[in-house]
Amino acid sequence: MTAFIPYGRQLIQDDDIEAVLETLRSDFITQGPRVTEFEEALSAYCGAKYAVVFNSGTSALHAAYFAAGLSAGDEFITSPVTFSATATAGVLTGANVVFAPVEPDTGNLDVTKLCGFITPKTKLIVPVHFAGHPVNSEALFDVVKGGPIVVVEDACHALGTLYKDRVVTNWQKVGALKHSHMCAFSFHPVKAITTGEGGAVTTNDLSYYKKLKLFGNHGITKHSYDFVNHEIAPWFYEMQTPGLNYRMTDIQAALGVSQLRKLDVFIERRRSIAKTYNSAFAGNRYFYLPPERDYAKSSYHLYHIRLKDEYVQRKLEIFNKLKERGLGVQCHYIPVYRHPYYKSLGFTSIKSAEDFYSREISIPMYPAMADSDVQFVIEKVLETFEGV
Ligand SMILES: Cc1ncc(COP(=O)(O)O)c(C=O)c1O
Repeated sequence: MTAFIPYGRQLIQDDDIEAVLETLRSDFITQGPRVTEFEEALSAYCGAKYAVVFNSGTSALHAAYFAAGLSAGDEFITSPVTFSATATAGVLTGANVVFAPVEPDTGNLDVTKLCGFITPKTKLIVPVHFAGHPVNSEALFDVVKGGPIVVVEDACHALGTLYKDRVVTNWQKVGALKHSHMCAFSFHPVKAITTGEGGAVTTNDLSYYKKLKLFGNHGITKHSYDFVNHEIAPWFYEMQTPGLNYRMTDIQAALGVSQLRKLDVFIERRRSIAKTYNSAFAGNRYFYLPPERDYAKSSYHLYHIRLKDEYVQRKLEIFNKLKERGLGVQCHYIPVYRHPYYKSLGFTSIKSAEDFYSREISIPMYPAMADSDVQFVIEKVLETFEGV
């Protein structure tokens, strides 16, 4: 059988399985003590005051947009180089998405071009930390500082990513909210840690925290001290805002707590694989390597290569050959405005996103890769390019 190495996958170990089994044997299989424990562990890990967990990264983003007050008639700016959920969770509030240009090498929002996209209707900016490399969040925050625009980070790729700014020279975690109001994560199996499906939002703001909590649970509170109506009966609860069932279960949260303990080890492994790729591919004629800015320590959710000019026209052929050789390569991303739904709304292409898309291929990167898998990938990548 030919070996096949996917571009990403989870790493579930015996302690994770034990944690889930223990919860299944307990009284709580929907929301219970593990959800609270996971929220506390996440906020402590990121260095944020609050974390609220959800049943996906998509619902986490939807909740953050709701908490920020995004609604019909508003505009929000994001990157077209992302998964469609970043845009669609906002479009579902009735707001209009505005796609802005990206940097040619990181694929992140080009903060220097943002000003040209801000209008009096701009309610939100949503930077996406593509592949685990942080956006220049400090420069982005300089653009909105003191104004009414809310910044919600789409950090679905970036749990455990580090950055530093001009003043504070120590490394800080994405999710610590130094330069944003809310930060959303995903725990899908290819992400830094997994809960099967799952997501979270961190914030330092009590009012956002309360809105996030309500939105994920039908807008319902059972706390009598929060009641608007002052009738109190033992069965009483109140629906105070719109909301849906976006709850994470204790089963998922138990897995999350167990996985989070190992996150730094997982990231260390990802960074060491990236280092091995970087030295094996250094100076090659075929493609560029993912950059890492001075202010960044990427968590390498993805390892993306970008084809040099001579190979751009042959991306499909190269992609297929990599697959034939057993590499589960992927392309991140089809720019969101290319999807039929967004086309039907009249979106047209953005040059920088088209350029990135024409070059990008993600090669395997996940902590469970053995050294022999890493060597296999290097060998097959070089063999493929030498043959085209
Ligand atoms: C950048 C980005 N945003 C949002 C999402 C949505 O997260 P989820 O799949 O957990 O709903 C993803 C998932 O792939 C993503 O990569």
